[in-house]
Amino acid sequence: MDGRNHHLKEDIREYWSKRSETFDLAFGHRIPPGPELEAWAAAVRRSLGNEPLKVLELACGTGEVTNVLLSLGHEVTALDFSEAMLNVARRKHAGRKRVRFILADAEQTMEPDASYDAVVCRHLVWTLTEPEQALADWCRVLKPGGKLLIFDGDWARPTPVGKFASYAIRLIDRLSGIDPHYDGAMSDRHQNIMAWLPFGEGLTVERLKPLVEAAGFEDIEISSHRPIAAAQRKTANLRNRLRTLLYRRFILSCRR
Ligand SMILES: C[S@@+](CC[C@H](N)C(=O)[O-])C[C@H]1O[C@@H](n2cnc3c(N)ncnc32)[C@H](O)[C@@H]1O
Repeated sequence: MDGRNHHLKEDIREYWSKRSETFDLAFGHRIPPGPELEAWAAAVRRSLGNEPLKVLELACGTGEVTNVLLSLGHEVTALDFSEAMLNVARRKHAGRKRVRFILADAEQTMEPDASYDAVVCRHLVWTLTEPEQALADWCRVLKPGGKLLIFDGDWARPTPVGKFASYAIRLIDRLSGIDPHYDGAMSDRHQNIMAWLPFGEGLTVERLKPLVEAAGFEDIEISSHRPIAAAQRKTANLRNRLRTLLYRRFILSCRR
């Protein structure tokens, strides 16, 4: 790993560690019980099926997707490279069975070959520093026929509707004060990191799919994030409802 990438990874880790204690307070991170948890669980079920599996969750953060996986009966190894994030997740899931948390780099997991039925991650791929290496590693740790399930989006450019939503959000911010916990990918704090990332100009299906294929995955399926956004809008306030319109998100599922 060259010096620049090393420092970049340290910057990324530091950024998320600083956000660990308030991460769940920023809209879109916590997955509350009810329609939203149901919508996430349905998306996972659609890709992984109904049987309990041995799942590796990458970049678990505060353990919200971990909760979705556990609620579906899976046995979960959840990793993150931020000790601070892991501490929040460990606290949240203290005493629960079928879960272990490990401090590890998602781009080089060091997990044994062919040891998982599924690899799952939400909002990790856009911030990878070496996506090709990471995808090859995820293929390696999956059993033959195992599933990779990625939830992500293009956080660099708002959609056309998102541009209007963004304008309306700025207006609400001005009228009722800014939301201190919301810190998007293009925030001032994160812009220096974004400039160096391979997907710094935006993570799209078109950019990701060829890399997934090159890593050896097959049967790539893209599905819509809309049912999840619709569930979020059922309970969100106006500003957060607008936030569900900002970016193009996608769900990518494929098989080793
Ligand atoms: C946007 S947060 C998403 C957290 C969680 N997946 C979720 O959706 O709630 C990004 C997470 O990725 C972790 N992360 C970023 N790069 C990583 C890497 N190379 N290895 C392990 N974790 C990483 C960060 O520490 C942070 O917890």
